[in-house]
Amino acid sequence: QEDVFKKIVSHCKEYGFVFPSSEIYDGLGAVYDYGQNGVELKNNIKQYWWQYMVLLHENIVGIDSAIFMHPTIWKASGHVDAFNDPLIDNKDSKKRYRADVLIEDQIAKYEEKVEKEVEKARKRFKENFDEEQYRATSPKVAELLAKRDALHERYQTVMNAEGGIDLEGMKQIIIDEEIVCPISGTRNWTDVRQFNLMFKTEMGAAAEGASTIYLRPETAQGIFVNYLNVQKTGRMKLPFGIAQIGKAFRNEIVARQFVFRMREFEQMEMQFFVKPGTELDWFKEWKERRMAWHQALGFGAENYRFHDHDKLAHYANAATDVEFHMPFGFKEVEGIHSRTNFDLSQHAKYSGKKIEYFDPETNERFTPYVIETSIGVDRMFLSVMCHSYEEEKLDNGETRTVLHLPAALAPVKLAVFPLTKKDGLPEKAREIINDLKFHFNCQYEEKDQIGKRYRRQDAIGTPYCVTVDHQTLEDNTVTLRHRDSMEQERVNIADLRSIIEDKVNI
Ligand code: GAP
Repeated sequence: QEDVFKKIVSHCKEYGFVFPSSEIYDGLGAVYDYGQNGVELKNNIKQYWWQYMVLLHENIVGIDSAIFMHPTIWKASGHVDAFNDPLIDNKDSKKRYRADVLIEDQIAKYEEKVEKEVEKARKRFKENFDEEQYRATSPKVAELLAKRDALHERYQTVMNAEGGIDLEGMKQIIIDEEIVCPISGTRNWTDVRQFNLMFKTEMGAAAEGASTIYLRPETAQGIFVNYLNVQKTGRMKLPFGIAQIGKAFRNEIVARQFVFRMREFEQMEMQFFVKPGTELDWFKEWKERRMAWHQALGFGAENYRFHDHDKLAHYANAATDVEFHMPFGFKEVEGIHSRTNFDLSQHAKYSGKKIEYFDPETNERFTPYVIETSIGVDRMFLSVMCHSYEEEKLDNGETRTVLHLPAALAPVKLAVFPLTKKDGLPEKAREIINDLKFHFNCQYEEKDQIGKRYRRQDAIGTPYCVTVDHQTLEDNTVTLRHRDSMEQERVNIADLRSIIEDKVNI
């Protein structure tokens, strides 16, 4: 599975989906650029979200707020004081790690050791091996699982300590478990300390009294501080939502797994404002709606699950993650949170403005409660890539690499090939593209044999290819080739638009 993931990462690079940022300068950690195909796929993901959330919901509107915001916003939201990760340095390698991640990796190591024991036993007992029985009775497996459970329990205790994470307790675990630095191999650790994840910069020249401002770590606060503007100018009645897509920035210490954890990434967030007391019903409703949205892509219900949070942030009264089955396990793609009236109340307190809703039916004034749905564009992108990538063995013994992208998300919808570069075939092919390019993304290709051109389009997930041949000049028909089945059929040029639109429209 890890191997497959490596192949997906190199495929993304080779076919113009994702490049390491600043690559000719050896890259910049956990920052990536989207290439010519990546940007199309990403735009289609954003459109798929926006159409569902904003266009299909009468009571949800969109905004696009600035990345720079008044610094007090981050004080009010709690990010200045509490948006931290626990860090530890190895004194020999001078490498910095997230202490919680070191411990989580250690927990995973016990599980890996169990799997190794099982594999060893499988080899030893060959066809007589009963895996279930071995797992249930092996003293070695029992010992490893007991160690894992004990560590897990200790970890939960330090993470959930009164008054925040128990940093000393964390360091003690790292010492007791004899965790070594993967670079230096030593156990020469500093103390664990909290590290704020927000990037800072300065606005205005220093002489004029520059002020420290932050790059937003979430888009949500831009929505909260515009609640009154939108509610009043849009004459919105509860319940209603405000949606936004935009960049967010976090100084992540452990940047792993490609675009899964980045320092600059994109979020698609929606805050749904409701009457106090109705929030848990709405939480349930949004869980269902968001899961249905994910599953409508057709990746299989078994690849999704909810991970309900036991431990809630102090302002939340319910929270869950939508997890997707990536090659490296089930991982969070979206968070759905019932955030009470915490954010609006905090902004009211810090700004001194009244941020309320007047209910004309009951003549009551109150601060609305909020259900938030928050999904990372890049994580969604990764889940789409991981699920679509296949190295398919063909009947003739060859292998083709194909991206089974949902047609609506594919960067290119139709590729048009003239069979040869002469006899007026290129001109005819261009004519077809000129008619269709206003409706969806088309690509012209005349280089190499048709078979090779098909493979290149398979690799970027193009659902349809059309070949223009000599018969086309006589009867205006072309060969239409389907990506997944590789089947070909003869169709009229005049029917192409409706055949393709039928599949690619969301
Ligand atoms: N406003 C709520 C919020 O920001 P979050 O769980 O911290 O909640 C929401 O983030 C989503 O944003 C995550 O589910 C994930 O998809 C995405 N996300 C968060 N940090 C990310 C990172 N460093 N790189 C890529 N995506 C990230």
